[in-house]
Amino acid sequence: DPLLPPDFKSCGVAYVGEDPLDVNCCPPTSDVIKDYKLPPVHRLRVRRAAHRLNLANVAKYKRAVKMMRDLDVADPTDPRGFSQQANIHCAYCNGAHDQVGHEELDIQVHFSWLFFPFHRWYLYFYERIMADLLKDPTFALPYWNWDHPKGMQLPWMFDEEDSSLYDPNRNQDRRPPAVLNLALNSTITDPVQIISNNLSLMYNEMIGTPASATDFMGKAYRDGDAPPTYPDGGTSEKGSHTAVHAWFGDPRNEYNEDIGNFYSAGRDPAFYSHHANVDRMWTIWNDIPADYPKAITDPDYLNASFLFYDETKQLPPRRAAAVNIQDLSKGVKTAEKVFPLKLRK
Ligand code: C2O
Repeated sequence: DPLLPPDFKSCGVAYVGEDPLDVNCCPPTSDVIKDYKLPPVHRLRVRRAAHRLNLANVAKYKRAVKMMRDLDVADPTDPRGFSQQANIHCAYCNGAHDQVGHEELDIQVHFSWLFFPFHRWYLYFYERIMADLLKDPTFALPYWNWDHPKGMQLPWMFDEEDSSLYDPNRNQDRRPPAVLNLALNSTITDPVQIISNNLSLMYNEMIGTPASATDFMGKAYRDGDAPPTYPDGGTSEKGSHTAVHAWFGDPRNEYNEDIGNFYSAGRDPAFYSHHANVDRMWTIWNDIPADYPKAITDPDYLNASFLFYDETKQLPPRRAAAVNIQDLSKGVKTAEKVFPLKLRK
């Protein structure tokens, strides 16, 4: 059977490994669960590369994050607020949510075929909340284009200390223009060599290595399964995706907070642009011809579902929206994303 959405009311303690965290990352509880209805799409959102964004769009993105941060102050339980949005990642990834009907099993949305669809839904609502706050239905998240040589450093907009996009909890040696290394634990220091290695690493995880959809996406994960672990993840998740988290997490902090640990990653605004690029990798991979089928048709995959709050301002009773993976293909992907891009070998 497919994984069921969590019950927000029974959300509990979050962990790193065996260590309980003293942060409460549970969402506000919802009194009503409705099935999410994809709203009609009038204009496509176009996500652009962060390093090529014009100043007006950078300013707009700063304003959106600022507005989300202001919601935190106005009402810390507002599900649209910046810290509640960050907590979503903690609750779904650090053991706070249990599987309904299997209370001894934590939900873990990494290291399995749920990785891409979960994060696509997560960004979908994050982006819609921002669009709603900005009153700009065309607003789209910029993506950190780390698969391209010009994007292989933190986009400057995230490094201005007085901006809403800044996060002090980052590896200080890796602020721009330090060159991003997509190989985990690499000791290479020559930037030209790093960039060339990054490009072959990207080629391998997108094209060279995967021989099946689950090789790329991650293994099956169903209702009643133990939480998957790192080796079960797909080439992309375990490769470039994890490397960016590890490269940029702050080694001064116990768990490499912020972006270096699941529970805290969403506190860094760069996280969402990182994942916008991860999401883009899914689209690119999907469009590259291969000698294996790209679509996973297992109903336990298609019907796996999650719970999110949407962009509407909600006073109690709050209504959480249940979404499933199948619905992504009914519109989220094509309606929300247009990617003018090329994968470079
Ligand atoms: Cu949910 Cu990059 O992790």
